[in-house]
Amino acid sequence: MCGIIGYVGNQDASKIILEGLRTLEYRGYDSAGIAVLGDAGIEIRKDEGRIEEIDKKVKFGKMGGNLGIGHTRWATHGVPSKANAHPHSDCKGEIALIHNGVIENYRKLKEELLKKGHKFTSETDSEVIAHLIEEEKGKTFEERFLSALQKLEGSFAILAIAKGEKKIYGARRSSPMIIGAGKEEMFIASDIPAMLKHTKEFKVVEEGEMVVLGKGECRIIGIDNGKERTRKSFTVNWSAQSAKKDGYKHFMLKEINEQPKCVRDALASDVSSAAKLVASSDDLQMVACGSSYHSALVFKHLVQAECGKKCEVCIASEYAYSSVVGKNTCIIAISQSGETADTMSAVRFAKKKGARVIGITNVISSSLAREADECVSLNAGPEISVVATKTFMAQLAVLYKLAYEIGGKKDMIEKLKDVSHSIELALTKQGEIEKLAESLLQKQSFFYIGRGLFYPIALEGALKLKEITYLHAEGFAGGELKHGPLSLIEKGVPVIALAPNDETVHKMIGSIKECKARGAHVISISDSQEVKKESDECVMVDGVDASLFPFISICVLQLLAYYMAAKKELDPDKPRNLAKSVTVE
Ligand code: G6P
Repeated sequence: MCGIIGYVGNQDASKIILEGLRTLEYRGYDSAGIAVLGDAGIEIRKDEGRIEEIDKKVKFGKMGGNLGIGHTRWATHGVPSKANAHPHSDCKGEIALIHNGVIENYRKLKEELLKKGHKFTSETDSEVIAHLIEEEKGKTFEERFLSALQKLEGSFAILAIAKGEKKIYGARRSSPMIIGAGKEEMFIASDIPAMLKHTKEFKVVEEGEMVVLGKGECRIIGIDNGKERTRKSFTVNWSAQSAKKDGYKHFMLKEINEQPKCVRDALASDVSSAAKLVASSDDLQMVACGSSYHSALVFKHLVQAECGKKCEVCIASEYAYSSVVGKNTCIIAISQSGETADTMSAVRFAKKKGARVIGITNVISSSLAREADECVSLNAGPEISVVATKTFMAQLAVLYKLAYEIGGKKDMIEKLKDVSHSIELALTKQGEIEKLAESLLQKQSFFYIGRGLFYPIALEGALKLKEITYLHAEGFAGGELKHGPLSLIEKGVPVIALAPNDETVHKMIGSIKECKARGAHVISISDSQEVKKESDECVMVDGVDASLFPFISICVLQLLAYYMAAKKELDPDKPRNLAKSVTVE
């Protein structure tokens, strides 16, 4: 949700920032802009649209400079337009500022600034910050910046540059921001992949901190008291190559194909401390959003049905409204980014009430990883496509391991070694799934059904399809069909049935028959000949332990959604209106 990047050093700032913005584009892509500091002052180029389209018009990479900031936007306040694109300026054009987050008191601040004669050129909340700094009294820009920050309510990751100042000023509250340290140069961005080409050494900017970056300077300061803080750096082993497409048409397809390796790496994560924390509590709850919420539902099923441990799952944004939480509660928060504002807010709410928190995330420098009492890493490497595929699969792997560890099921943990082979089997079906996608291109509405473990997989399959094809898709528990959704089934409507040969198979065959009797076109994913016979089409994947079939099913559903989007010539990596990391509530 909005990507920001800044550079100060000896190299061409505009080229480094443009390259960084391309990597960050998954965070927002309705408009973009860059500001650099030159001898004559600040130059800003920005517009509405995707970075490549804008670059053709404004030639970002030719701006030069050794210091600059860049932004790719996911609109919150104000429509996507050139005026609302960042960077924003003060009245004199001496400050350029970019912002990710939401300034909650912007109306009040704007009214005061308007009364003082400030002229605004956009509808954004962000522009207010530039004028606020301009208005501040203070000897140095640093003092004015700090004093403006102290007046802001809401969430922000801000970068600002000013005429005559060979420095980048940054600040963070609730929106992510990481410093990349180079030799005689400094980087700062929303995310690590944007800086990977240049450095492997990073420092986290913590909640409520301001930073001042110069060529050989990196100072971190508390916004509340203006005092300097020390920060250790950390290194990552992600390669710059892992954020490239490697010959695949889209990141999504590359990331789906990486899944056998991802689950192996995820299963290498140690879950023993997390399992102990769960065991020491008699109230287990989970919070998550989107795909991560679906993986939480899978865990709930496993831990309850197979390990007898009661577990509640709540959509993170709903948590504070109805939760009963206390000192005996253990919360498992799942978030690939570790920055989702809804999830972090549920975590902070629960912590305040005394709960202990286990974070499961792909980003070890994220807010979730730092604020949780125990953290389990997904080890999936950077995921660039907006929709979750390999991180969802890595979540399943880690959550299976955790559930079996809690239940003391060593034999089942042993079986997990076959997961990556199961996914490889599903990947051999790509040609077949591509043809299936072709045959479904004219359909408008899709229903996904499953029972038990496969109900959340049906939800995730439907989410994948709607996210990237913009078609109507809904997931249902197989047994629920007859209680309402069946009225939506008519001739030719595709129903995708997840029907493995397990204890749900006979009831699933019943659900398939109910749909077929109303004219549905049933496509099943199964390892059962009987299911195949009852379906119009069947993606058969057999020879795998029944407990691992969820991994196979979701891989098939990801591929189906991917090929449908690709054949419709939609960009599955950047679906409209969505952002990968949603840092506003
Ligand atoms: C956004 C993304 C979804 C993702 C959700 C949760 O809405 O578009 O794909 O599942 O956030 O993200 P998280 O990083 O918390 O797993």
